[in-house]
Amino acid sequence: MNAITSAPAERLVRVPLGKRAYDILIGPGLIARAGAEIAARLKGRKAAVITDENVAPIYLDALTASLQAAGIQSSSLVLPAGEKTKSFEHLMTVCDAVLTARIERNDAVIALGGGVIGDLSGFAAGIVRRGVRFVQVPTSLLSQVDSSVGGKTGINTHHGKNLVGVFHQPDLVLADTDVLNTLSQREFRAGYAEVAKYGLIDKPDFFAWLEANWQDVFSGGAARIEAIAASCQAKSDVVVADERENGPRALLNLGHTFGHALEAATAYDSRRLVHGEGVAIGMVLAHEFSSRLNLASPDDAKRVETHLKTVGLPTRMGDIPGALPPAEVLMDAIAQDKKVKSGQLTFILTRGIGQSFVADDVPSSEVLSFLREKHPQ
Ligand SMILES: NC(=O)c1ccc[n+]([C@@H]2O[C@H](COP(=O)([O-])OP(=O)(O)OC[C@H]3O[C@@H](n4cnc5c(N)ncnc54)[C@H](O)[C@@H]3O)[C@@H](O)[C@H]2O)c1
Ligand SMILES: [Zn+2]
Repeated sequence: MNAITSAPAERLVRVPLGKRAYDILIGPGLIARAGAEIAARLKGRKAAVITDENVAPIYLDALTASLQAAGIQSSSLVLPAGEKTKSFEHLMTVCDAVLTARIERNDAVIALGGGVIGDLSGFAAGIVRRGVRFVQVPTSLLSQVDSSVGGKTGINTHHGKNLVGVFHQPDLVLADTDVLNTLSQREFRAGYAEVAKYGLIDKPDFFAWLEANWQDVFSGGAARIEAIAASCQAKSDVVVADERENGPRALLNLGHTFGHALEAATAYDSRRLVHGEGVAIGMVLAHEFSSRLNLASPDDAKRVETHLKTVGLPTRMGDIPGALPPAEVLMDAIAQDKKVKSGQLTFILTRGIGQSFVADDVPSSEVLSFLREKHPQ
């Protein structure tokens, strides 16, 4: 029976969080099967689909048809694409649409889109009626390997990114690997930075596998499914160990302290820098900084840079188009980052490929002189 209903090479990663446990299905053709997979797991027969204007024209009809075929009645809301959509204003719109669709606790909010749609709809699902069911249908590589798993939801405010939100785990994640074929190369590469990150945190063999197989991951097929499944498994392991980010989950921020500072320095202008690109540069900087602190060999930083450059990612601050603010301003952004405790900086440092650790006593003077040295201007 499985041979008929499940596509070849499909992978299942289970996130074992007790009562909040859920499945992540990874493989081709999952949008067409979404209705059946949801109906098999959720009691409700109503769904509110939230998506964006880029994804809707390509995938919304297929998802709606699949839901209908499984006896799930759905409504849809199409929002503007882009980071600005993670706002209070759009949160209100989503909550209103969910209530208008008369979604009850056992019904579902379905996020069809990248991390922006996932974070925003997950937040709405977490607060409408104090929590309704939530299904992620992530359509960007970044959302398939990172944001759709783990239950962090939220929006941005003028104080910064992701500052308002809740933990609300999804009930199911359907990562249809075919949909990545319509994602731009640039967005695919940005998501790939997060894939490489899992290797660099604590899986040196996975990083070496990516160095050998990245072209197959980019072109699709079994290696792509494998890389996404390995990433979801890695994220699941971290989330299960530390669901609410009190400790080891912080390792997922490898490259992100520098990366976030660069995103802030470019005013979150996606024409200059998208998140995964900031993470790519940030991971190279984290390895170089670790080598400067005599924790890791400079060869490791070179190896990381070579691989990320080979796949077409930026690896240097100077790769970002346009002028950057001075090192002192980048330093301020780092100091304002939430990973700062009582004057000392918390950083994810490394002893080598796949040997990252949380350091909470990094002197800011060291960081500043490093940034001055690396600054392109
Ligand atoms: N919750 C978490 O744990 C977590 C983790 C990492 C990142 N995030 C958040 O995720 C967001 C970034 O996610 P993202 O990179 O997916 O951005 P995104 O949602 O903006 O998607 C990127 C772009 O690709 C388009 N797109 C998505 N899927 C497509 C497809 N299949 N075909 C064609 N176009 C497609 C989107 O419309 C958008 O223009 C950020 O807001 C970040 O804060 C959250
Ligand atoms: Zn990230």
